[in-house]
Amino acid sequence: MWGAKRENDQKRPVSRFRLSRKGCECSPFDIVSKPRHRSGPRPPTDLFERFCGLTDMDLPVFDISSDEFQADPLPAVRQMHQAGELVNVKVPLFGCLPALTRYRAVDDFLRDSKRFARSGKAAGKRSPPGLNWWMPKVFRAFAKNMLATDGADHRRLRSLVDQAFLKRNVDSMRPGITRIADTFLDDLERQQGDGPVDLLDDFCRQFPLAVICELLGLPDEDRPRFTRWFGSLGRFRGWWSFAQMIPGLIRARAYLLEQFRSCRNSPRPGLITQLVLAEQQGGRLSEPELLAMVFLLLVAGHETTTHLISNGLLALLDHEDQKRQLTDDWSLAPTAIDELLRYTSPVQMSKVRYATEAMEISGQVIHPGQMMIGLLVAANFDSDQFSDPFHLDLQRSPNRHLSFGSGIHVCLGMKLAKLETAIALERLFTRFPSLYLACDRKEIRWRSRIGLRSLESLPIRLQ
Ligand code: HEM
Repeated sequence: MWGAKRENDQKRPVSRFRLSRKGCECSPFDIVSKPRHRSGPRPPTDLFERFCGLTDMDLPVFDISSDEFQADPLPAVRQMHQAGELVNVKVPLFGCLPALTRYRAVDDFLRDSKRFARSGKAAGKRSPPGLNWWMPKVFRAFAKNMLATDGADHRRLRSLVDQAFLKRNVDSMRPGITRIADTFLDDLERQQGDGPVDLLDDFCRQFPLAVICELLGLPDEDRPRFTRWFGSLGRFRGWWSFAQMIPGLIRARAYLLEQFRSCRNSPRPGLITQLVLAEQQGGRLSEPELLAMVFLLLVAGHETTTHLISNGLLALLDHEDQKRQLTDDWSLAPTAIDELLRYTSPVQMSKVRYATEAMEISGQVIHPGQMMIGLLVAANFDSDQFSDPFHLDLQRSPNRHLSFGSGIHVCLGMKLAKLETAIALERLFTRFPSLYLACDRKEIRWRSRIGLRSLESLPIRLQ
């Protein structure tokens, strides 16, 4: 049971939540000069706490990688909101981390990149974010990406690729993306025979992977290898699954370095060649940064979209009336996709941020170097921001969900992800209007993993 567990019986003071970007009396990010609920210096931390980011905060603890949370996060989200704007969540290998739960708090946290930095260095740490000294070297090879940097480095890295993800460029990809979707659906139709298909593996995973490979300029025939190498990333839960990632990462690294060499010798269409040119011009991109950039685009560019398409499809099958509204009128797609993003919240939490200065949040003293996260899924169901948040409403507008994050690290690929999902759903339902779940709804299983809500499989009968 994920239920809220108090570390002790002491009642935690509830702060009044009025947020101000600049920080005022009422801001939950007050500097700690006059702590309101706790005083005195923090007791010295032990070694384990220092390395693993454990927190000694007296907060309710939620296990967001538990089977129960993944099967249905909404009961826990309600409990989180009742518990307050700061809770502890269990994070495999890291222990517990303080996590913000309310919309305004999460939005402000992600926007305030000065006080909440991605790079541990800004908070006096030596390791890159999410990495500890004991982690194998291959993790470091992929670590120096834009999502792990702040300030000038982040701007430089993002500016090298942001053109490709602008709305007009993404819109121009519509015919190509539609063609890719149709090719997969042709294959599915041929392959199904009389039986069900697993839409998760056979379409929701393959389709966004094919799109990002095309954008990067990676050969089609190599895609099955990525699925094998990156498959274990999706199963990260503890030490064993962590160790299982290593061989795939080593192979992915060797493969990408070989692709860079080949693009240097004979340039080909795609983002990798553009990045290789930027690297050759010197000063703009080093080879380790090139490797980390392509790895980030490849992984972030398909894994998340896979789960938006599959979770979104399941949510539509669960809400027949809403599904009918959309399939009767595809001009609803823009608001519908945003609502599916909010309602299914495929990325459930932000990456870790480091507090760069002492402050107080919700009555808790935060020390420099403290790791924290924002719970996007909890923010997306905040009744202070969304009316009737637990209800799926494909016409919801405005809908400023936080599924793509916020601030300087807001998702680079959001336009692409939305377009892919709109095309996937439209092509699927237009071609197979009576598709239905091929098992009892209760048999649907979710992966026990942290941060990304992902199905084990999605058995579907197409007609
Ligand atoms: C449904 C699909 C997607 C979701 C829900 C999603 C979600 C997110 C979130 C929440 C962040 C910010 C994390 C943080 O601040 O801690 C992020 C960043 C990022 N996403 Fe996505 N993403 C999706 C699709 C994509 C796609 C298709 C790409 C394409 C390459 C992509 C590339 C990136 C990159 C490069 C960043 C880092 C941006 C930066 O640091 O400036 N994402 N994404």
